[in-house]
Amino acid sequence: MSTEKFYDDISEEYHLIASNWDAAVRDQGRVLGKLIGGEARTVLDCSCGIGTQAIGLALQGYEVTASDLSSKAVARARAEADRLGATVGFAVSDFRELEKRVSGTFDAVISCDNSLPHLLTAPDMELSLRNVFSKLRPTGTLLMSIRDYDQILTDPPTGMPPRKYADHLGTRIYLQTWDWSKDNTYELELFLLKLQEESWKVQSYKTRYRAWKRSELDSILGEVGFENLSWLTPEDSGYYQPVLRATRS
Ligand SMILES: C[S@@+](CC[C@H](N)C(=O)[O-])C[C@H]1O[C@@H](n2cnc3c(N)ncnc32)[C@H](O)[C@@H]1O
Repeated sequence: MSTEKFYDDISEEYHLIASNWDAAVRDQGRVLGKLIGGEARTVLDCSCGIGTQAIGLALQGYEVTASDLSSKAVARARAEADRLGATVGFAVSDFRELEKRVSGTFDAVISCDNSLPHLLTAPDMELSLRNVFSKLRPTGTLLMSIRDYDQILTDPPTGMPPRKYADHLGTRIYLQTWDWSKDNTYELELFLLKLQEESWKVQSYKTRYRAWKRSELDSILGEVGFENLSWLTPEDSGYYQPVLRATRS
């Protein structure tokens, strides 16, 4: 299944995999706003999904443009921005085409929640980061959050344990299985079980990720021209995933 189809198919359900998506929007906006900091005003979120970080940052007062590969996720993000009273400009774009599809340059570009690891090869990662670089003004900041794959690769897990939520959106269970290949890629199958009239309705969606080591990403980022690379732990940043911070030379 293509990455685009995975996110198109799940776009209407995506909020259900969080315990409280509206709260996550506000919390992540606050944390990322602090990390962007300084004089920055304009932000491009180049993997906005249904808008988790883009809307959160717009609510913090940033001037946000948000793009994503999935047109259905972007349509949902637009509707969520309206619902939550945020002003965000939207575009549909692959990382590899940002230069062509998104106009202008930005004080900061963000890509959060393990989005870039959907790219499976070094040439695709380099092309994507070149496009990201082209969207930053000189000295602008890149923030990218990914799973802690250095730690994960020490003992690759077979998935993510189930989480059960029960709230005004219903009773549901969310889990993932991860099926590893020798090249450090894995097929992720996401299961969403919804309790409906005392029986469980099961939906599942498949996509592929590569477990990129920090050293692999550092060397591509350096090739592209990023400087001042630092990896912030959740303890350093307050964000729930490791965050790479780098600047455009
Ligand atoms: C795990 S989701 C995170 C979405 C959002 N940042 C959030 O936290 O809710 C990953 C996102 O990356 C996007 N994505 C994956 N591959 C992409 C590509 N090649 N170009 C642009 N976006 C891509 C997906 O469509 C999806 O919305």
